[in-house]
Amino acid sequence: MTAEAIQKAGADVRHSARTDVLEDRPVNLDGFVEEWPEVGMVAMDSEFDPEPSVRVENGVVVEMDGVARADFDFIDQFIADKAIDAATTEESMALPAQEIARMLVDPGVTRQEVIAVTNGLTPAKLLAVAKNLNIVEIMMGMQKMRARRTPANQAHCTSARDNPLQVACEAAEAAIRGFSEVETTLGVVRYAPLVAMAQQIGSQVNPGGPMTQCALEEATELDLGMRGITGYAETISVYGTEPVFVDGDDTPWSKAFLAAAYASRGIKMRFTSGTGSEVQMGNAQGKSMLYLEIRCILIAKGAGVQGLQNGSISCIGVPGAVPAGIRAVAAENLIASAVDLECASGNDQSFSHSAMRRTARLMPQMMPGTDFVCSGYSAVPNYDNMFAGSNVDSDDFDDFNTIQRDLQIDGGLRHVKESDILAVRTRAAKALQAVFRYLDLPPISDAEIDAAVYANGSRELIPRDVLEDLKGAQQVMDRNITGLDLVKALEGTGFTDMAENLLAVLQQRVSGDLLQTSAIMTPSLVPLSAVNDANDYAGPGTGYRPTGARWEEMKKLRHVTSASNPELEVE
Ligand code: 5AD
Ligand code: CA
Repeated sequence: MTAEAIQKAGADVRHSARTDVLEDRPVNLDGFVEEWPEVGMVAMDSEFDPEPSVRVENGVVVEMDGVARADFDFIDQFIADKAIDAATTEESMALPAQEIARMLVDPGVTRQEVIAVTNGLTPAKLLAVAKNLNIVEIMMGMQKMRARRTPANQAHCTSARDNPLQVACEAAEAAIRGFSEVETTLGVVRYAPLVAMAQQIGSQVNPGGPMTQCALEEATELDLGMRGITGYAETISVYGTEPVFVDGDDTPWSKAFLAAAYASRGIKMRFTSGTGSEVQMGNAQGKSMLYLEIRCILIAKGAGVQGLQNGSISCIGVPGAVPAGIRAVAAENLIASAVDLECASGNDQSFSHSAMRRTARLMPQMMPGTDFVCSGYSAVPNYDNMFAGSNVDSDDFDDFNTIQRDLQIDGGLRHVKESDILAVRTRAAKALQAVFRYLDLPPISDAEIDAAVYANGSRELIPRDVLEDLKGAQQVMDRNITGLDLVKALEGTGFTDMAENLLAVLQQRVSGDLLQTSAIMTPSLVPLSAVNDANDYAGPGTGYRPTGARWEEMKKLRHVTSASNPELEVE
């Protein structure tokens, strides 16, 4: 048929009114595709995925997943030599995949017992284990295998105008709302030093504590980290096929070297990977997305970094488009946790027009709790999110808090009274104004502060003189301004409590405590990690449950009717 004939035939078909209603639903704006294993468009079950196998000779893995050592690509070699325990692998690999899957779910088997087995598993075997688990079992596994007992959350604090004042206010609000990490990135990269500084200062308004990141090209990001203007690094990407890795001019060894550079200064760091990146970059070698992601997870483990941001991340549209894709995403989070890595579990990029689908995609992480339920909850409106929009954003704060309360699950956030939010935004803005003046950077006016404190997003801001700001940003780099200079500036301008908070965060780098798995800083400015807050879930009645003061705080919402005073309470 010609195009016109098809159109005419279509126009003649009579649809039900119900079909028309369904057709108009937001979910039908999403993209869905059939599986296509040859190019890797398959979530976790490709006929081209290898069968699990391992052979060890003289303490060296000489065969893995059907490939002889002589035929290893560089990822196989890195995993075989650095991630797999040659002493235990043959014993672990001899266990049936179903039995290992049951160990993950069975509350009678401890986290340590599971890790003793996963230490010896190859990528294909971990895939076989994951294939045995349905979505509820994946959540059961996560509840036990998450490294830190207390779940936490991470926020994106960005501005479509790269406005440092906005980012300072957003970081302060994110801190009081409960986020343990806040991160930014830029539209105009040259703005980075000012925006990263602003975020660092805003995050330390009382209560203080969150660590900060500025996602940039690797050399600048490392520079800002070494100076103490940021506190952690996360967007160190690894990939599951050799050609995609090489496309980025990298190898597992170069990434491990970069990780060591951060660690040498006590800077917390984790890698980033996720299902769909290899398909998106056009070289999946016909393997399933989850198989390739498991290779990434084992690269992170082999490099010795404490954690991984995974869960597809910026590629979520790819697994989101294929059958069982969201199950595979939950499985990749579980496998990261099951090999003893911290897991910052995605939910950080918009992937669906459907509110139901967005929520369903969040539940496998939010219900069991992960180290960071979102590895980027947008603390700003979608249009201000310079990481390309998140699965949840500032418009969703009340919904998120309500879901926590409904299900008594801890996603790391809390409702905060507007007066408290305005107070911390004002303090962040005034502190940034004072620090800019102290360091002879471009001025911030009181009118700008007023607009930023009350704004929803950058559309309500007073525009800055961008050229002057960019000169100021260059000054920060040229004058070698460090985190300690920010402490001095805060102290010298009367923001002593913030100076002390920031100093406490910087001091932790010297002690090295932030290099422990899943480390965060609590609002009382002590590190909380898998060392002093190890997950001890062992079945019903055990492990982390929101109780006491935390549960009381979670009960609060914007509108709750009081039994003693039936008038609506509005906070
Ligand atoms: N694989 C590897 N790296 C990723 N990033 C995001 N998604 C992935 C993925 N699936 C990294 C990129 C991006 C940053 C936000 O995180 O470096 O720029
Ligand atoms: Ca992130």
